[in-house]
Amino acid sequence: MLNGKRILLGVTGGIAAYKSPLLVREFVKAGAEVQVVMTRSAAQFVTPLALATVSKREVVSEMFPRPDDPNSTSWTKHIDLGMWADIMLVAPATAHTLARIAHGFADDMLTSLALALRCPLALAPAMDVDMFLNKTTQQNIDILKESGCFVIDPEEGELASGLVGPGRLPEIDRLVAFVDGILEKIHRDLSGKSILVTAGPTQEPIDPVRYIGNRSSGKMGFAIANAAALRGAEVTLVSGPVYLRTPRSVRRIDVSTAEEMNTAVHLEFENVDAVIMSAAVADYTVANPVNKKIKRETMPGDELTLTLKKNPDILKSLGEKKQNRVLVGFALETDDGIKNAKEKLRRKNLDLIVLNNPNEPGAGFNSDTNVVTFLTPAGQAEHLPLMSKFDVANRILDRVKSTLTWLT
Ligand code: C5P
Repeated sequence: MLNGKRILLGVTGGIAAYKSPLLVREFVKAGAEVQVVMTRSAAQFVTPLALATVSKREVVSEMFPRPDDPNSTSWTKHIDLGMWADIMLVAPATAHTLARIAHGFADDMLTSLALALRCPLALAPAMDVDMFLNKTTQQNIDILKESGCFVIDPEEGELASGLVGPGRLPEIDRLVAFVDGILEKIHRDLSGKSILVTAGPTQEPIDPVRYIGNRSSGKMGFAIANAAALRGAEVTLVSGPVYLRTPRSVRRIDVSTAEEMNTAVHLEFENVDAVIMSAAVADYTVANPVNKKIKRETMPGDELTLTLKKNPDILKSLGEKKQNRVLVGFALETDDGIKNAKEKLRRKNLDLIVLNNPNEPGAGFNSDTNVVTFLTPAGQAEHLPLMSKFDVANRILDRVKSTLTWLT
């Protein structure tokens, strides 16, 4: 995958930076073009000259052009390079740079680039064991993972300080395989396509403080939105209430009730090529929610009866006006899965239904993995093995892409 690819290699100021010329050499040997971006402190461990020599390109570090350099007149290099690259890898990534990227700092070329990128951002944290295990660093890594960055865990072993534990930069061949694996998953094959994704639960109010909801975490839908954006699609994510960060380059619309989701989805529908409804939309809402908190002392008797009414079936109404758009639905079934999913596929006029069972090991709410079966109007059921939600997302997008190609 590396042949002909453009790699931005960010090098930050940790001892493992001394390995970066070897990494550049391996990328170049595999046919990639490499542009090195260094932080100021990285130059304490490895010289810009060494990196410029192996990459055959001037190393960039500062944001602003130097007055004495006639070639460095552009101050939009961070934008230009952000558009140039197929992937950016920061290796080694120090605790400081992880923190800066996680919180959106843009105080040098490397962090500005990380913000301006249109391609995947991969990170290889490497530092001393206590800095790595520090709660703040771990929280920053979680933030970065949630917002769609790829993170390779450091290896365990003896560190420069003499301490032993996780923190070593992985060997060069593992870093090369890591980048290769990301590029294999992420071709920009959906650029020019517009995809609407729904995610999360809905909340149907009973009174101003209570609601009827469900256990959906939104992780599956957010993984789809992230994967689609990384593959170049323009992504709108309509999300119910969740505790997840918006993936990079995704436009997010927050809603609360099924009715609000219905309105938002129908407004967006005209402008999209595909809709992937992974939201767990409540089938029923409270018929007459009250605007004052219900108090048990003032209610007569021992029972409280709520009257529920059916919510609109959003996906079914999209199916009725879909024309040449691709429609994907989810079916969460605990029994008779295939039969029920086939029936839903037909009733909602879908191109694909993704069947999952929350009781299966590795599947279900809040898990980072899923076990799904694909069903199409024509095809056989395809059972996928246990895989990450990100990988499931890419398999769904492969199906969306082939249906879109077939439709046009
Ligand atoms: O019929 P069922 O609710 O099981 O169908 C699930 C699929 O339909 C999911 O893709 C879900 O997002 C969608 N759905 C919907 N509107 C509803 C209920 C479910 O669009 N009111």
